[in-house]
Amino acid sequence: MSLRSEAKILYHVVFKRNRGRDHAGRMEDFYGGQAQGYDAFRSRMLKGREEMYGGIDAPPGATWVDLGGGTGANLEFLGPRLATLGKVVVVDISPSMLAVARQRIADRGWKNVQTLQADVTAGPPVAEPVDVVTFSYSLTMIPDWFTALETAWAMLKPGGWIGVVDFYVSRKHVSPGMKRHSWLARSFWPVWFATNNVFPSPDHVAYLHRRFEPVHFTESSATVPYLRFLRTPYFVFLGRRAA
Ligand SMILES: C[S@@+](CC[C@H](N)C(=O)[O-])C[C@H]1O[C@@H](n2cnc3c(N)ncnc32)[C@H](O)[C@@H]1O
Repeated sequence: MSLRSEAKILYHVVFKRNRGRDHAGRMEDFYGGQAQGYDAFRSRMLKGREEMYGGIDAPPGATWVDLGGGTGANLEFLGPRLATLGKVVVVDISPSMLAVARQRIADRGWKNVQTLQADVTAGPPVAEPVDVVTFSYSLTMIPDWFTALETAWAMLKPGGWIGVVDFYVSRKHVSPGMKRHSWLARSFWPVWFATNNVFPSPDHVAYLHRRFEPVHFTESSATVPYLRFLRTPYFVFLGRRAA
């Protein structure tokens, strides 16, 4: 990543005031100036994506919808499996992120991948029932995340897969077997991320476990670029809609 590109990303993430009259406007204002360098910078921070995309056992010919799919870079994690899928739709509210995705699709010659500009809380972006729905670091950026998860549930065929990877904070009192974050972590990360309209929640994990049948769940932490003494918690959830 060039120094200029790195500086541009840092400006948007750290210094630029986010404007926009509504959620779509805020997202495009945030990503418009950094979509080109987004993947290189975020690969150092958005961990667990390979685990999530690699863990989904999609049947051949499956329809896979990536909600808040951004630049489509995560489809690279599917490797040769991508060609076995029937249709993949990268849905995102930001036209700038989707422009990068379209360039990638053209460069890679992916014939079964398409993009769709839509707000995932405005109803199912794809009319037919689908086999897989994924959210990679998008749930924390969707204020009405519960609507987004209900939309995912409604879109899925019975037995269909959901995969989510994202930042989070634990509840103060956790269920048995779950990690408990310190008071400092539970207080600090929501405040830190809110400046970029990212809202790590103690409720995403609980709601996913309630709404879907859990298949795989891990809790880890990732370092922050330039601030390697900080570790931000993230989770990976794979589940299925009850058959
Ligand atoms: C942190 S980025 C993650 C992008 C990509 N999934 C990744 O793993 O790199 C969050 C993405 O969610 C998108 N997004 C936020 N709210 C959305 C909504 N309501 N509907 C669709 N996309 C949304 C943003 O435009 C952005 O591209």
